[in-house]
Amino acid sequence: MQIVSSIAAMQRLAKKWQRAGTRIGFVPTMGYLHDGHLSLVKRARQAVGKNGKVVVSIYVNPTQFGPKEDLAKYPRDLKRDLKLLRELNADVVFTPSDAEMYPGLGSTESRPTSGFSTYVVEEKLSRTMEGASRPAHFRGVTTVVAKLFNIVLPDVAVFGQKDFQQAAVIKRMVADLNFPVKIVVAPTLRERDGLAMSSRNKYLDAEQRAQAVILYHALQAAKAAVKQKSISAGRMKIDLNEFTTAAPLARLDYMEFFDPETLEPVAQVKSGTQMALAVFFGKTRLIDNARL
Ligand code: PAJ
Repeated sequence: MQIVSSIAAMQRLAKKWQRAGTRIGFVPTMGYLHDGHLSLVKRARQAVGKNGKVVVSIYVNPTQFGPKEDLAKYPRDLKRDLKLLRELNADVVFTPSDAEMYPGLGSTESRPTSGFSTYVVEEKLSRTMEGASRPAHFRGVTTVVAKLFNIVLPDVAVFGQKDFQQAAVIKRMVADLNFPVKIVVAPTLRERDGLAMSSRNKYLDAEQRAQAVILYHALQAAKAAVKQKSISAGRMKIDLNEFTTAAPLARLDYMEFFDPETLEPVAQVKSGTQMALAVFFGKTRLIDNARL
């Protein structure tokens, strides 16, 4: 397994593979890998086969964090990440530096600088939910993913359903800007009690961790409810409120019911509607979603 930090070296390698007709599978991550990330790496390998190349990027992208968010404290453990990726036979781990990705950008800034001033902005799907709660978040995501696609030149890139809106925004960007890459969205991996795996789970103390399962329970309750009949979104929100009141450490950020293609909110929730929610436990913000 090769570890590549320079953008030019990564691009040279990718171009060489491209010329040889070798398929490239790509999994972008911010590191601190868990089984959810690793399942995407396996999916990428499956997509390109044993003769293809699998590239995993590990880069904590400063432009997708808000000024009050956890950029500096975002968990990192490169040594462990590399060990896990070696065991999975990843071909290349791409670990670019901030200095090369965003020349001149201060560590907690996300605004234009003398060295970097071009952003990719999706203007529709990124407005609601995560986009409403975290302004400039998706601008950072689309910009870094566009950059990574131009550096890694993947044929296939794998994203997790866990970040449903992110995957939708990326798919839209790829379609709108004609990136020659196929986007695969892979299922959410969960802990035994149903909590979606996330690098941020490590911030939870024991009590918060125990209560964090309410995100999953709310999704399951909604699924069960729409099996019988359709229910108004307003009624659903009131009914599911019991989960947040049962968990005193939880503070609901949003709960939305929407069309999985357009992300438009629906008035009537029924089988096939997508549900997403974000819940704070202290400063830690967890998200989850499911097709009902
Ligand atoms: P990160 O949070 O590290 O996640 C990397 C990928 O892993 C994303 O596609 C995410 O949806 C997926 N993932 C996270 N938890 C998962 C789980 N429990 N099961 C399955 N997949 C899971 O998402 C990002 O990084 C960044 O925004 C990035 C796309 C790398 C751009 O900076």
